[in-house]
Amino acid sequence: MEPDTSFVPQLDARQRAMLAEMGVRVWAPRPTPAAAAAPAAGTTTEARTTSTAPVPARPPVARPTVAATVASPLAPPRRPGDIDTLDWPALREAVATCQACGLCKGRKNTVFGVGDVQADWMIVGEAPGENEDLQGEPFVGAAGQLLDNMLRAVGRSRAGEGAQGAFIANVLKCRPPANRNPLPDEVAQCEPYLARQVALVQPKVIVAMGRFAVQSLLRTTEPIGRLRGRVHRYEGVPVIVTYHPAYLLRTPADKGKAWADLCLAMHTLETAAPGPA
Ligand code: URA
Repeated sequence: MEPDTSFVPQLDARQRAMLAEMGVRVWAPRPTPAAAAAPAAGTTTEARTTSTAPVPARPPVARPTVAATVASPLAPPRRPGDIDTLDWPALREAVATCQACGLCKGRKNTVFGVGDVQADWMIVGEAPGENEDLQGEPFVGAAGQLLDNMLRAVGRSRAGEGAQGAFIANVLKCRPPANRNPLPDEVAQCEPYLARQVALVQPKVIVAMGRFAVQSLLRTTEPIGRLRGRVHRYEGVPVIVTYHPAYLLRTPADKGKAWADLCLAMHTLETAAPGPA
């Protein structure tokens, strides 16, 4: 049966037909019999205040998993194209002044990313912690030291260039309070920055570290253990999934698996089709 969209006044006939074709259900409050009979707003409030008619149960609300269109009370909603055309200086400035979610209120610094912007490796982590917030650079704490060692093991570093370098960025550019997990709205608001960084770096391989990086890039809720060992894609770029260095510090027995993941990343890079000269 086709979804009934006739009660959503904002949709025109073409939009209704498209939604029906796609089988998409939309939700809007159905006018109650009382509301339908009520006089136009501004004439009287009597019907609302005196009505004793039972309120019909609301249909369940289908919540979007990615709240990209939820407007933040802190800033006007972004327009499409706001971020995906920025060059590096403009992108850096946009991150530094961002107020799209509540994390801006508690940050000391935004954490944009570090490394060669032409590196063929890109590392994507989760969010800044306390040290990163203080220094404005990703992965500078204990997990960062492990990440540096992992990069060194594959002949790379955050200070290196090109085939010896790596660009390191996080899904969130601001620290969540007390290092709590990122919230879906924070991820949704911040994701365009990461997407633009990927588009500008044009890495040959992305190593996604930890659950939030993986979920954000691959739009999946599958656990890392089930995603490892395969080559995924983000906007056409190969993505290798591995454990977060902070997890590896707590679970050193899994370091061997992380090493295998880095080897897969190197192999993927070596066998990648050569890009334009
Ligand atoms: N963990 C991350 O995911 N990113 C950082 O920058 C630091 C710790």
